[in-house]
Amino acid sequence: MTFDFKVKDLGLAEFGRKEIRLAEHEMPGLMALREEYSAAQPLAGAKIMGSLHMTVQTAVLIETLTALGAQVRWVSCNIFSTQDHAAAAVVVGRNGTPEDPQGVPVFAWKGETLEEYWWCTEQALTWPAGPGGEAGPNMILDDGGDATLLVHKGAEYETNGAVPDPSTADTEEFAIVLGLLKRSFEADPKKWSTIGERIQGVSEETTTGVHRLYEMHRAGTLRFPAINVNDSVTKSKFDNKYGIRHSLVDGINRGTDVLIGGKVAVVAGYGDVGKGAAESLRGQGARVIVTEIDPICALQAAMDGYQVLTLEDVVETADIFITTTGNFNIITADHMSRMKHQAIVGNIGHFDNEIDMAGLTKLPGIEKIEIKPQVHEWRFPDGHTIIVLSEGRLLNLGNATGHPSFVMSNSFTNQVIAQIELFTKKDEYPIGVYVLPKHLDEKVARLHLDALGVRLTELTKEQAAYIGVDVAGPYKSDHYRY
Ligand code: NAI
Repeated sequence: MTFDFKVKDLGLAEFGRKEIRLAEHEMPGLMALREEYSAAQPLAGAKIMGSLHMTVQTAVLIETLTALGAQVRWVSCNIFSTQDHAAAAVVVGRNGTPEDPQGVPVFAWKGETLEEYWWCTEQALTWPAGPGGEAGPNMILDDGGDATLLVHKGAEYETNGAVPDPSTADTEEFAIVLGLLKRSFEADPKKWSTIGERIQGVSEETTTGVHRLYEMHRAGTLRFPAINVNDSVTKSKFDNKYGIRHSLVDGINRGTDVLIGGKVAVVAGYGDVGKGAAESLRGQGARVIVTEIDPICALQAAMDGYQVLTLEDVVETADIFITTTGNFNIITADHMSRMKHQAIVGNIGHFDNEIDMAGLTKLPGIEKIEIKPQVHEWRFPDGHTIIVLSEGRLLNLGNATGHPSFVMSNSFTNQVIAQIELFTKKDEYPIGVYVLPKHLDEKVARLHLDALGVRLTELTKEQAAYIGVDVAGPYKSDHYRY
């Protein structure tokens, strides 16, 4: 079998396969879906373009999608998050060899440039015509919305008949996107609108991507239906919280090996990710200070026992700064210049503009020293330095390996169910943004109980009637907050 792909080194596939085998045991939700659906093949005919961190856990997701009948092309949604051995193993596949790969086309490696990143995204969206001439993709599985954005932006320019102009971009990255779209417009002025028309739906993984989808839907520009996987309870209340609780300190430790206990750590934002981040740092003995703009989350942080202050109050005295807001310009270049010597600065929100890296680079007399990949010391003209992790991008995936398998099994079980919903029940999902129904959310949780030895209490019929639910669930109303 020959197919196009680009990864670092197929020789890493054997190591990747071993880690995938261990991860499968820790991902009972995905393995249960394989068992439930592999005979029925509900995703036969689905051509899924995935843009989501190419990790070991994602490899188990990809191979679950193919076990259910899908064809898949994949990229990472971050330039630093690919685990090269996982990417290699997915390309080689279970039955292939590095010389004769039999798996799935992946375009991803750790340490892409931004040009390469967008090139990879375009490759995974550009489906070669199959034997019957059928093209793809007809589904997107997105994390952060970059694949969805590329299709929508490209289609928008094509519909307006306007050639994209990179000089109008407000950021370096957007100039790269417009350059790519300009080239494709000149080669095929219908490329993205054709892809957009073919896509039946997108399932979106994260808070930031979900914001983008709701914005497009409000503006009337969304071209296909979307399932908001992030707001399944078994996603955002687990991955965003417990996943971060694990992977934030993992990233700081692997990046710096600085003792966290006793240090003053600032967590900007006390949403789901911020709650996990604060707990993670407190678990290591840090004295944690939270910043918030929302009075409800600020009060929650205070009642959870954290001091809530503003960044201005602590910028000159804290040791560790972590942004978790999904917002931009949280830590400015001026803030960084005022931090104490060797303060650690990192972001765990989706995009790299929470920390103003562009502004830091432009400070007069600033010097960047690479300690190792994804760990840089920035020296200010007065000689003091700060340590910035993953160049301001998701540090848990850049400096460590992201969330562990068990929590990702919850997220990805939602993803697979969302793909099945959108692909097999086209008529039930007109253009709009949906969350999965609660009984499916409860199903995802249920699939993870046995592995932890959880014994669930069953309602009696009388109790169920008394609280007005079915014995088999759903157990809560849609407005219940958990
Ligand atoms: P959220 O909306 O629950 O929390 C964000 C919080 O930041 C909110 O409480 C908001 O009030 C606060 N905030 C906004 N602007 C602020 C400011 N200027 N100063 C202080 N606080 C501010 O969102 P969630 O789910 O916690 O996600 C946050 C980010 O993390 C998103 O970009 C999301 O995509 C990303 N994410 C990253 C993961 C990872 O593995 N690194 C995993 C899951 C989500």
